[in-house]
Amino acid sequence: MRIGLVGTGHVARALGAGWSKAGHDVVLGSRSPEERREADELKGFTVVGVGEAGAHGEVVVNATPGTASVDVLREIDAADLAGKVLVDIGVGFTENMDLSDPNYSLGEKIQAAFPEVRVVKTLATVDSVVMTAPESLEGPATIFLSGDDDAAKATTKGLLADLGWPDASQLDLGGIGTARGQEHFALLFMGVARAIGSYEFGIRVVPQRAAS
Ligand SMILES: NC(=O)c1ccc[n+]([C@@H]2O[C@H](COP(=O)([O-])OP(=O)(O)OC[C@H]3O[C@@H](n4cnc5c(N)ncnc54)[C@H](OP(=O)(O)O)[C@@H]3O)[C@@H](O)[C@H]2O)c1
Repeated sequence: MRIGLVGTGHVARALGAGWSKAGHDVVLGSRSPEERREADELKGFTVVGVGEAGAHGEVVVNATPGTASVDVLREIDAADLAGKVLVDIGVGFTENMDLSDPNYSLGEKIQAAFPEVRVVKTLATVDSVVMTAPESLEGPATIFLSGDDDAAKATTKGLLADLGWPDASQLDLGGIGTARGQEHFALLFMGVARAIGSYEFGIRVVPQRAAS
């Protein structure tokens, strides 16, 4: 599948490497591709402009700071986005690391700004290292999906499986409104990371044992 990642940071590089390894045709979209192409950490990646990444991807992935994402995605021609699956990983933070949208979510904001696109929020609850290495955790973790379009979520589920997240680890929370829970988890994420001294952990939904 052709995947256009928007962003060239930690998330874009981790997912770009993971999906390339799984056989996908991946490009990373930068605001300044000529400059970024020279960066050591981007060796081995195909770095293009944001618009070109959007045109390339059958699936487009937002891996930019949540406060900038809508503006950055507007650099993609509307015709190149229409009908596509847009996987959104972003979370918006203020300078003080508070949520920039405490009563809303970036996922909903992107869906409202680009109604022709089928937004699926996922992977926002884990660090970029864990995104592509769930097997490095001590046990199975849960990864969440939020989105209004079932076919888009099915496509995203396949891409998560390609990163090593088995079907049993994937939990569909429902419509794009549920992206709030994934994004707002960032507050607990930071607290846990401070408490255990690492960003590299997962969380697992553990249901009650069935009554015998
Ligand atoms: N890092 C994680 O482990 C993690 C986990 C879950 C969710 N997230 C979320 O995923 C998104 C990406 O995170 P990241 O860690 O990859 O961030 P990052 O390392 O800072 O990279 C973000 C990339 O976005 C692009 N960008 C576009 N507009 C920008 C702007 N106004 N300011 C700065 N960069 C801009 C930049 O690429 P160009 O300069 O090439 O355009 C930059 O390399 C964020 O929303 C973050 O909250 C991150």
